[in-house]
Amino acid sequence: MSKIIPQNFIDDLLSKVDIVDIVGSRIKLRRTGSNLVGLCPFHTEKTPSFTVSQSKQFFHCFGCNAHGNTIGFVMQFERLSFVEAIENLATQAGLTIPRASGYHDKVRYNELYQITEKTSAFFEQQLPRSSRAINYLKSRGLTGEICKKFKVGYATSDWENLRSIYSSSPITKQHMITAGLLVNKENKTYSRFRDRIMFPIHDTRGHIIGFGGRAIDNDPAKYLNSPETPIFHKGEELYGLYEAKKADRSSLKSIIVVEGYLDVIALAQFGVTNVVATLGTAISTKQIQLMLRNTSEIVFCFDGDQAGRAAAWRALENSLPLMRDGIQIKFLFLPEAHDPDSLIRKESKEKFIKRLESAIPLSDFFMKQLAYNVNINTIDGKAKLTKTGKELLKKMPQGIFHQLLSSKIAELANINVEELKNYDFSQSWTAAPTNQQAKKEELSNQLKSTNKAVIPIIIQNTINILLHHPELVCHIDDTSDIKNIKISGIDILLELIILLKNQQNISMGAILEYWRDREELEFLNKLACKEPIIPKDILKNELIDIIQLLKQLEREKAIQLLLAKAATQKLNPEERKELQHLIETSKK
Ligand code: UTP
Ligand code: MN
Repeated sequence: MSKIIPQNFIDDLLSKVDIVDIVGSRIKLRRTGSNLVGLCPFHTEKTPSFTVSQSKQFFHCFGCNAHGNTIGFVMQFERLSFVEAIENLATQAGLTIPRASGYHDKVRYNELYQITEKTSAFFEQQLPRSSRAINYLKSRGLTGEICKKFKVGYATSDWENLRSIYSSSPITKQHMITAGLLVNKENKTYSRFRDRIMFPIHDTRGHIIGFGGRAIDNDPAKYLNSPETPIFHKGEELYGLYEAKKADRSSLKSIIVVEGYLDVIALAQFGVTNVVATLGTAISTKQIQLMLRNTSEIVFCFDGDQAGRAAAWRALENSLPLMRDGIQIKFLFLPEAHDPDSLIRKESKEKFIKRLESAIPLSDFFMKQLAYNVNINTIDGKAKLTKTGKELLKKMPQGIFHQLLSSKIAELANINVEELKNYDFSQSWTAAPTNQQAKKEELSNQLKSTNKAVIPIIIQNTINILLHHPELVCHIDDTSDIKNIKISGIDILLELIILLKNQQNISMGAILEYWRDREELEFLNKLACKEPIIPKDILKNELIDIIQLLKQLEREKAIQLLLAKAATQKLNPEERKELQHLIETSKK
């Protein structure tokens, strides 16, 4: 999605708007030195720890660790998606988003939306004509009214049941294949969904992006879903969210997550409309994020059995990175052999709501599962508990909730919170070796090591310097002779250097935008929140030293390779010349 908007427009936008205006128009800020501070809008506090840096175009709360650039602030504060935040900012800045470079994508998306829309209307039309389908829905206790609300339809058993959509219109079979509605196999095309009850799936803006289809008889594939298409990504969307938002015009007090399409519809029929379902996959962080843009409380409903508990634990792990203060996540385990659909029909709306009210808070479920299978009266048990606990805590942002869980874990392990903290392998600025020799050793070790997941502190520090002082990039002349060195993090460093060389006066906030949706963003954000409190000229020297060191390591490696070759065969004149040159430059 983010790629629809050209990056150069995002650059322009971020350089035009000022984070101080954007934040300042929403919360009260007070100037202190070069920064501005205010009460954090993302957690409750009495003394301000929310800091906005104008020069860096970045905000950071020392209380709850909320942070980001201007776009990130608008997304979090207004609960908007990335594209919506850009639209919001563009309006405020009086800019029009150019669609030119994303023009083709845009047209294609709209075409696909039209196709799914038409198809859905067609399925809906077919429903009343099939007594088989109607009888099935009746047997499931569904009313005509609720089926209309969810645009439930029917795909006939005809292998070309969507013929009328693509026969006499600009829509081609290829379009239908792209939309996931036709299957192309051995040069034959046929309808994916046949003799199935059809549930259209909406995105939050109301486009139909895909379908779930339920077999009426005992087909081995009870449900068939649309495949991944340009407009349909299973792990990012939620069935029923659009309908839930439509049913409740004010913001949703809570969102209930269930497993099945029919659970969503049955609960809605009973008047519980704030319900969504995943699309047959485990709940993802993206989906939780999507919900948290629309509510501050989520209740996950799971089966009470072993599989249900395992699924709940996965949901918990994916929720942790989003556990900011003010957010409530709860778990409801259902009695055996029931899903929400059957339960609300057997009991009543009132009883179901009672159950929801008794859902277990995330912290309780967390502690219960953590202590499960661990004997905390033994040293081993304690170690295991603190280790797992700490790993989970690491996934969470700082804040009251983090503190609460830390103290609960400490209490359970019978140690104090400070001790628990010290279990941390915290990489602070000063932890890096300080002299050139020690630095070289660290880097050489990393070169030999197979653990590429760890980015050496020296590289981290270099990236950190450039993030906080992008203008220092002018002290790096050339990167061509360090680009082959195999140290983790070096690719990020090189990309950053090239970006800074091409973009003068770029702020830290705008730099981070280049990593949106990328794996490394979390790492970069961590560095962004860790300002090097060292005078700039020392940082400058540090930067120059490290680049020198990297060049030296690369030269030494090239020398070794050439010498190794020379031991077994004669070097050609160019190679000899290069070796000589390498040896001379490394003596300097
Ligand atoms: P369930 O088996 O619980 O189905 O699967 P259900 O929604 O309660 O439907 P009924 O009551 O049996 O008719 C839960 C969800 O898992 C996905 C679907 O999204 C379904 O709603 N699923 C299930 C599939 O994608 N494929 C399947 O074959 C089964
Ligand atoms: Mn069911």
